Amino acid sequence: MVVWLDGDLGTGKTTLVRSLLRACGHAGPVKSPTYTLVEIYVISRIYWYHFDFYRFNFPEEFLDAGLGEYFRDDAICLVEWPEKAAEYGPAPDLVVRFQFAEPGRTLEFVACSEKGQECLNMLKSGLPDAAD
Ligand SMILES: Nc1ncnc2c1ncn2[C@@H]1O[C@H](COP(=O)(O)OP(=O)(O)OP(=O)(O)O)[C@@H](O)[C@H]1O
Ligand SMILES: [Mg+2]
Repeated sequence: MVVWLDGDLGTGKTTLVRSLLRACGHAGPVKSPTYTLVEIYVISRIYWYHFDFYRFNFPEEFLDAGLGEYFRDDAICLVEWPEKAAEYGPAPDLVVRFQFAEPGRTLEFVACSEKGQECLNMLKSGLPDAAD
């Protein structure tokens, strides 16, 4: 599962990942991968990889860092600044678009594959007032 987290600086991408991991049972810290490129979490045998490509100067850095290996079928990859990896980064199943709002933030979820749509359907079933 590949999820793109798409939004300007400070719109809450890392904050959402932190909340998601906590909700799934991760008790430790969740720090921004801005400098490390990827932070790794294992929660009940599921691998979660949290990426941040903001500091890439060239998309080829995705290849140089060997990051393609992380995008396996049994992993959940959450990607901040995916456009910095351009065509080298795997296509998303789900895109989350973040925008500043008053108060808080607006999030738009877009499914880009069957898997993404399935995920969105489950998410919507837990949010009775969610807009289509
Ligand atoms: N939904 C929200 N409502 C209000 N404040 C928020 C919300 N989400 C995040 N914030 C605050 O916005 C700030 C930036 O959040 P965060 O680091 O998650 O952004 P980011 O999108 O990951 O930024 P970057 O692109 O720099 O990695 C933090 O201080 C956080 O507490
Ligand atoms: Mg961030």
